[in-house]
Amino acid sequence: MLSFGDPSPFTGRIKASGRKIICQVQTLAQAKEAAAAGADIIIAPRAGRRRPFGDDTGHNGAGTGGGRCRRTYSGGRCRRYRRRRGLAAALALGAAGISMGTRFTASRESLWDQAMKDTTLNAGGDQTEQTRVFDIVRGAAWPATYPGRALRNAFSGHWCGREDDLAADQLEQEKAYLATAPDNFATRVVWAGEGIDLVHDIPTASAIIERIIAQAVATLTEGAKLIRY
Ligand SMILES: Cc1cc2nc3c(=O)[nH]c(=O)nc-3n(C[C@H](O)[C@H](O)[C@H](O)COP(=O)(O)O)c2cc1C
Repeated sequence: MLSFGDPSPFTGRIKASGRKIICQVQTLAQAKEAAAAGADIIIAPRAGRRRPFGDDTGHNGAGTGGGRCRRTYSGGRCRRYRRRRGLAAALALGAAGISMGTRFTASRESLWDQAMKDTTLNAGGDQTEQTRVFDIVRGAAWPATYPGRALRNAFSGHWCGREDDLAADQLEQEKAYLATAPDNFATRVVWAGEGIDLVHDIPTASAIIERIIAQAVATLTEGAKLIRY
């Protein structure tokens, strides 16, 4: 799975190994690029959605154009959806599948520590925001066009809008950031998508998948009853 930037330098080798290529794109132009480079599956984070502040988790970019991606490409597409009944909605809109991240951060298999998982359980989508401050403070070389969606906290509140100041004092600020306690979520980053509203427990990954499939089957079955032949 490739995200960010031109996938074409890598796709030849991946194809040659007999594997499928998944490209996560942020813009219509990138979707076209990925298709031309031979992507088998394109993840369009905003496909069909019109949310003003995006609909993304972790590092996903601030691009737009998902709805247009959907109309442009048929076949192996995959969309990110995590609303209740989201899998059914994505399939109904023509996607071949969905990609999920946040839900699995609160799974038994997740490598996040318990305090991080508990924070996820207690947070809502309105508490998330796209920001670069956590990358800047950690000296991560993410381009400015790729902010990440995370839980808003005192640290991000303090530096949001003052990114240049933070960058100018990065070394000192990084020391302070790294010195904070692991359970200090006023400072520590917790990456999360807006679908965090729906995360209320910490099941196994397989239980999560089974639950989502069961919900989708129930929703699609109900929907099919609306059709009179
Ligand atoms: C903790 C975390 C880290 C992520 N890191 C990356 C990343 O490094 N690169 C990337 O392309 N996407 C990253 N993502 C985004 C996922 O690839 C995926 O698009 C997204 O999580 C799906 O949306 P959802 O989290 O709302 O289910 C990350 C997501 C999470 C939750």
